[in-house]
Amino acid sequence: MTGIFSLVSKAIPLLEFLLIIVLFFLVLMALFFYVSLFYSEILGAPFVSLRKKYLKEILKFGGLKEEDVLFDFGSGDGRVLITAVENFGIKKAVGFEASPCVYWLSKFFIKIRGLNSKIKIFPQNFLKIEKEEFEEATFVFLYLFPKPVEKLFKSQLFQLKPGTKILCVSFSPKLENHYYRLLKSEKVGWHTIYLYQKI
Ligand SMILES: C[S@@+](CC[C@H](N)C(=O)[O-])C[C@H]1O[C@@H](n2cnc3c(N)ncnc32)[C@H](O)[C@@H]1O
Repeated sequence: MTGIFSLVSKAIPLLEFLLIIVLFFLVLMALFFYVSLFYSEILGAPFVSLRKKYLKEILKFGGLKEEDVLFDFGSGDGRVLITAVENFGIKKAVGFEASPCVYWLSKFFIKIRGLNSKIKIFPQNFLKIEKEEFEEATFVFLYLFPKPVEKLFKSQLFQLKPGTKILCVSFSPKLENHYYRLLKSEKVGWHTIYLYQKI
């Protein structure tokens, strides 16, 4: 009896120590998660995902085809890229995601689905990417706040090939030039979707 009692009393400090270590890592992970989300908000848009049931409808509205190469600027947890490959059979999907936490989450989802050969994600600020990094795009997906949408239309998207489709969810740019054509817009769930084409 005394033996069991002394064994338990010796195990308690060890358990306390392990509990402190686990708590420390949980706090560290939560901190990393919040800093990562705060960072994407500073860059232009927080991580908010589209509901999967709307996503297929939105991509169908955009007329996504098998031969398309889809680019998602701010690819979040990768669900747009994954849906485009799995449900629309496209040959290639590319994402740019600046928030480290969300980037690693998307890498994980893509790996467990075995889609590494068809989907590439870069941990990059999309406002800093060069033309060569997105010139194969035929379909661009944007679910961002108005400011980054305006910036992209005035810089990177300006360099897209004529005919490339640009699908904007919720926010559309105020266009003052003749380099993009609005093909159509529609309400899907509570989002208004705008489909543009580079002229
Ligand atoms: C509203 S979420 C959209 C996520 C995904 N496209 C979807 O529809 O499910 C916007 C994403 O863009 C990312 N983001 C915001 N500004 C960015 C920037 N300048 N460069 C790269 N990613 C950015 C955020 O971290 C966030 O994950």
